[in-house]
Amino acid sequence: MRSCRARAFLALATVALAVSGCSANLDGTGTSNIPGPDPQRDIPANALAPMGPVAEAQDDLWNLAYPISIAVFVLVFAGLAFIVVRFRDKGQEQLPKQVHGNTKLEIAWTLVPALILVAIAVPTVQTIFELADEPAEDAVHVTVVAKQYWWQFEYTDDDTGFYTANELHIPAGREVYLTLDGSEPAGPQYGTPPVMHSFWVASLAGKRDWVPGAIREMRIEAYEPGIYPGNCAEFCGLSHANMRFTVIAHEEAEYEEWVANQREPAAEPTDELAVQGQELFVSQTCVACHNITGHPENGESRVGPDLTHFASREAFAGYIFDSPFGESAEDPEASRELLRPWIRHSADLKPGSQMPQFPNISDEDVDALIAYLGTLE
Ligand code: CUA
Repeated sequence: MRSCRARAFLALATVALAVSGCSANLDGTGTSNIPGPDPQRDIPANALAPMGPVAEAQDDLWNLAYPISIAVFVLVFAGLAFIVVRFRDKGQEQLPKQVHGNTKLEIAWTLVPALILVAIAVPTVQTIFELADEPAEDAVHVTVVAKQYWWQFEYTDDDTGFYTANELHIPAGREVYLTLDGSEPAGPQYGTPPVMHSFWVASLAGKRDWVPGAIREMRIEAYEPGIYPGNCAEFCGLSHANMRFTVIAHEEAEYEEWVANQREPAAEPTDELAVQGQELFVSQTCVACHNITGHPENGESRVGPDLTHFASREAFAGYIFDSPFGESAEDPEASRELLRPWIRHSADLKPGSQMPQFPNISDEDVDALIAYLGTLE
């Protein structure tokens, strides 16, 4: 019986090991040959390799608590092993000597854990207060709204704010103060059903939940320019795993240049096919959900991602597929081919996507829409 149980346990442990070694297929389609940003292509999402002051302050707490935990673990289990061996039943007939109460020991095992807790609590509380401080003078302010299943970033520092989706550009070496804004009315018609999400850029800061009805703040900062992968860290529905985003930290001048471009209204298309696409954008009701600033019939709706500068982004669909217009696209043709089914049945590529389906839209019209999207730089 015992060997049977042991074997069952071994088998389970082996399966668990094998499963944990599986590489996740994050594109959500069940196929792996679709081009999408490789999560490990850039800086790995590693909370133990902090790339900014916030992550580093949090990592310092881990560096303090972890060795203490290991020491406690080793001492407790060494003591346990010693007692189990030393006082094991050696077959004596009589009960061993019974001991009750030992004042010195009791004081020791009350005091020592209390001191350990104080040693961990003091720097922890200190760090919590530091991280909850007022934003720095020169901080960049961004309001974050979690939608189903993508992230909206609104830059609020200037009179003319602008929006991006799934791509958070920041200046390296400057604090970015994020407002996780759950105060919007919730409901599919607003693109924000009342579920929780969690904003997590592992190498820049710990997680913070985005909570419907609540407004929460957090700060991030990157020491160096780079591309830092982020993802939703709270199960929120079918495409939770497809709710990725990226923080792109630039040198200051490059960042300002990016901001200046984002604040511009969308370029007017000149190409015939793109002009046709612009017209379709209204007649196929895209404009009812997607804002394009500068579009002649701009509806200012942000149920879906703001597309004003769609072609300047490196990925689409919750950041799971390379954009054919991005600079880092590995296979722009394949990515372009992916935009077609995306426009027709987005939920096939990203389960639970709330974009309406347009199954009957002709190939020619899809081409025109893609041509128009390509002009939105
Ligand atoms: Cu959003 Cu998980």
